[in-house]
Amino acid sequence: MPEATARPQAGGALLAELREGLSRPQKELSPKFFYDVRGSLLFEEITRLPEYYLTRTERALLERWMPRWIGELLPASLVELGAGAAVKTRIILDAMAAAGSGRAYVPVDVSASFLREIAEGLTAEYPTLAVHPVAADMAEPFTLPPGLPAPVLHAFLGSTIGNFAEGAAVRLLETVRRRMGPGDRFLMGVDQRKEVARIETAYNDAAGVTAEFNRNMLRVLNHETGADFDVDAYRHHAFYDRERHRIEMHLVAPAPQTVAIPGLGIIRLDAGESIRTEVSCKHDRASVDAMFAAAGLAVERWETDGEGLYALVLGAPA
Ligand code: AVJ
Repeated sequence: MPEATARPQAGGALLAELREGLSRPQKELSPKFFYDVRGSLLFEEITRLPEYYLTRTERALLERWMPRWIGELLPASLVELGAGAAVKTRIILDAMAAAGSGRAYVPVDVSASFLREIAEGLTAEYPTLAVHPVAADMAEPFTLPPGLPAPVLHAFLGSTIGNFAEGAAVRLLETVRRRMGPGDRFLMGVDQRKEVARIETAYNDAAGVTAEFNRNMLRVLNHETGADFDVDAYRHHAFYDRERHRIEMHLVAPAPQTVAIPGLGIIRLDAGESIRTEVSCKHDRASVDAMFAAAGLAVERWETDGEGLYALVLGAPA
């Protein structure tokens, strides 16, 4: 195979996914394309924005509840979907260390290089913890390393469940449920339904970081596929859908666009047409109960912050 040139062509699976998403009446791309190195840094910047209450609220809930929940459950293993080298992982691992129970940590993430980095860092910080990274797309079924010590705590934090619309969310929870034994538990963070202005502001920050994060998807695709999206020609648009209880993020083309994607062909956008890049579903106790029930899980603990912005949920096999 020749070396990559200035105009690389993406692999078949990626091109097929792009072709499918961009040929829908509402053009659509997966939020997983936000996260190259720059995208991950932009997301980290989002988590520190005054408008983006999600991360800091979840962190406070974890700090408040993990010592108690971990102390009762005494998990020997932590499996984390969409793992982060982030603070939240350390709050759980610290609670497991304090309880003297933690023996294994399985971060699951699409980025193998990111996983290698966090595995190295955590092994140095928690010398008695066995770190077994799994490089996988969490939306696809994957297998865990065999012989993980039980009980296992499966964690899915950051309100990332919100990226999955109803059916897909239940399917993801079902794959987690199938991996769980009777003593295992599922820990999830979810952003709650609330005053619409508060949610819309979190996705339309004054500094424009979310807009840059959104546009970064086009940079990622240009880099990955050799496409020629004119990144700065697109406008960030994020709005709340009150019927579906979700934020939608779009990239709007104010003027007509013609995009060449090597191996795929030409994509056209009319003036005013958009590409949907993310949905972020918001939940309440009833919607989580329903999702869990459909997946064979039951809510065992439900804790929110004083303002009811965010919920930390512990689920058990039903
Ligand atoms: C990482 C999916 C939870 O939906 O709030 C932040 C991503 N998008 N700002 C979210 C995101 C725009 C975030 N999740």
